[in-house]
Amino acid sequence: MNKTLQKYRKKSGTSTKTDSFVHSLNVKRMSNTQVFTTVKALRNHLADVARNKTVGFVPTMGALHAGHASLVRTSSEYCDFTVVSIFVNPTQFNNASDLEKYPRNFDKDIALLDATAETIVFAPTVEEMYPEGHEPKRMNLGRVSEIMEGEFRPGHFDGVVEVVYRFLEIIEPTHTFFGEKDLQQLAIVQRMVEEFNLPVEVVACKTFRLEGGLAASSRNERLTDEQKDKALILYQSLDRVRAEKEKYGPREARDKVKEWFQNSDLELEYIEFVDASSFEDVNEWTENTHGCIAAFAGEVRLLDNISMS
Ligand code: PAF
Repeated sequence: MNKTLQKYRKKSGTSTKTDSFVHSLNVKRMSNTQVFTTVKALRNHLADVARNKTVGFVPTMGALHAGHASLVRTSSEYCDFTVVSIFVNPTQFNNASDLEKYPRNFDKDIALLDATAETIVFAPTVEEMYPEGHEPKRMNLGRVSEIMEGEFRPGHFDGVVEVVYRFLEIIEPTHTFFGEKDLQQLAIVQRMVEEFNLPVEVVACKTFRLEGGLAASSRNERLTDEQKDKALILYQSLDRVRAEKEKYGPREARDKVKEWFQNSDLELEYIEFVDASSFEDVNEWTENTHGCIAAFAGEVRLLDNISMS
């Protein structure tokens, strides 16, 4: 069993007040949102209402924001029903304190969904997702899981494969919606669907940006207003390289971004220019080059990427 999951299970007090409130109910009806916490209740409901219909699935770890709302809206435009999961997946955290500090606010999440579209929420406990005897689904992910997010968060993508596979098995959606902000995650889910021949279409959705270009993220909740302003450097440095790319190649661009960060309050973790299919570094700009970046604003780790063309 994954170490973080083991710890999470031992620490029975980790669930929040809202978790225990929600998990004491099987189904909670709200105006636009129905909440299910068990696999059985969710599957029974979907069997009743969604047979032969299109079902869109938007996986989330809660702390919902405008980016999630835009995925939910896209799903509701595409599909007859939209299922949103709210589950902070312990198996994708390689850092226990990151898991502990991950923002959780169930009531606020439901309020946002209520104001966005009609959805079915699946908010299981860890035990419901990973009952005793659960075997995590694994696959050889290759280079895409070894660089950038994979390098700095070892085991992260194994946890993502495990949880997304499990959700797809439970919900059996016809479509699933992933944001391009997590470019490696999107590529890995696409590969997983291909590898296991799963009958679901993965729909890639544009990164939702706030004013100034900051990518919407649950982690932004942990930033002060001043940090939010300073965090604009992630998007702005990628955008500046894109605007100036005739003047220098990817290698020089990396050095320039490092220099810009040295004069900022953020700590750069990586800046890479890669081919968005092979995830190999590029030495010259191509149509498929993406700039990918991760940096810390205080304790908060932020990431972003944009196409360079
Ligand atoms: O992107 C996320 O929020 C998570 O990695 C996901 C896809 C919900 C799996 O836990």
